[in-house]
Amino acid sequence: MNNSIAELRDALRQASSIAALTGAGISAESGVPTFRGPNGLWRNYSPEKLATPQAFAENPRLVWEWYDWRRGIIRKAQPNAGHVAIAELERRKSGAADPPDGLPDHSGFTLITQNVDGLHDRAGSQNILKLHGDLWIVQCTGCGATELNEEVPLQGDLPPRCRCGAWLRPAVVWFGEPLPAEVWGRAVEASGRAKVFLVIGTSAAVYPAAGLAEVARRAGSRLAIVNPEPTPLDQVADWVLRGPSGELLPRLL
Ligand code: OAD
Repeated sequence: MNNSIAELRDALRQASSIAALTGAGISAESGVPTFRGPNGLWRNYSPEKLATPQAFAENPRLVWEWYDWRRGIIRKAQPNAGHVAIAELERRKSGAADPPDGLPDHSGFTLITQNVDGLHDRAGSQNILKLHGDLWIVQCTGCGATELNEEVPLQGDLPPRCRCGAWLRPAVVWFGEPLPAEVWGRAVEASGRAKVFLVIGTSAAVYPAAGLAEVARRAGSRLAIVNPEPTPLDQVADWVLRGPSGELLPRLL
């Protein structure tokens, strides 16, 4: 294990393909609470209690209000230097690799995120695999139609209803639900192709997302962790950079 920013910077420069897995920690410096951090609780509910189909079935209004609270925070937040550095890394590595299987990802950089906040998009990242969906999109629990949250009239009873009459829910993945298959497939493919796999701002506690690091490692990728706290992946990582991603990621460029 190594904590040299300079060596990781060289490895990133030389790598024909990079994948990055991000979690809530990359948005912490934007003022968005992480799930397992000190401000992760809302009205004393843990995310595991609220982000489930059961919670929505029992108390859809409560779950909808939790997402509204989060959307309110995120709407006022700005992408931080960590998000911007990831977008810049993508620009620099674009076109660097030509995947042998010819899949549509033609860049040498793949961003895989567990975040639903949209801050990577706002920082300019293009090629984003959103494993857990997007909190700015809502989906009908009946007909499956999706639309932007901003276009849903929010007066009256919550959750709002679709034109078909059924409740709308955020288009995110809840505990116990499968990840979107196509996105997951592309994430596995990019992880297997990576020469360096970055794990940024995630507790690496939630599977299958955290398993992508293992997919990458088994395929011969080197692993780098960026996190102010220890993670379960540190012991198998090639680099562990301890600190906030908003400070460390710009230094990797
Ligand atoms: P967590 O809240 O579990 O972990 C946040 C991680 O960010 C921790 O490891 C912190 O040490 C780290 N962190 C805090 N501040 C940081 C900073 N400034 N820079 C870098 N890292 C920092 O969030 P996730 O790992 O994203 O899933 O959680 C995974 C999933 O569990 C989420 O996508 C969500 C959640 O419940 C679903 O809702 C399905």
